Amino acid sequence: AIERTFSIIKPDATRRNLTGAINAVFEKNGLRIVAQKRIQMTKAQAESFYGVHKERGFFNDLVSFMISGPVVVQVLEGEGAVAKNRELMGATNPANAAEGTIRKLFAESIEANSVHGSDSAENAAIEIAYFFAGAEIVG
Ligand code: CMP
Repeated sequence: AIERTFSIIKPDATRRNLTGAINAVFEKNGLRIVAQKRIQMTKAQAESFYGVHKERGFFNDLVSFMISGPVVVQVLEGEGAVAKNRELMGATNPANAAEGTIRKLFAESIEANSVHGSDSAENAAIEIAYFFAGAEIVG
């Protein structure tokens, strides 16, 4: 089914001017960018967005990293968009990411891993609503 997923192009990627290169991977592989904006996340937004990880040892570093520069938040639409995007991103740790995936191509480390993508349709809906008003998404 056609579905939507939430994506973030992270500060390590915006810093290296990789927004277009990453978007080209999405578009070449059947994902349509139906909403997109470049923002500076606040500390409160990053802490809340990654709230599920707050007991993890990497939480404080992750929050600092996510507010270290601009990010591009996006809604991607397409056939099986959640799974498709996870396939295109590759493993969280670029050392484990398959050839040709975004993280293999571009990520610097397990933290500075260039992109975030929702892990389920349910979380996609929550994450999309966190950053976008309905009228900002144009399918
Ligand atoms: P993301 O898919 O956005 O979800 C949580 C983020 O935490 C992850 O990508 C990485 O940027 C970051 N992170 C840092 N260290 C780890 C780790 N050891 N395991 C998982 N995620 C990590």
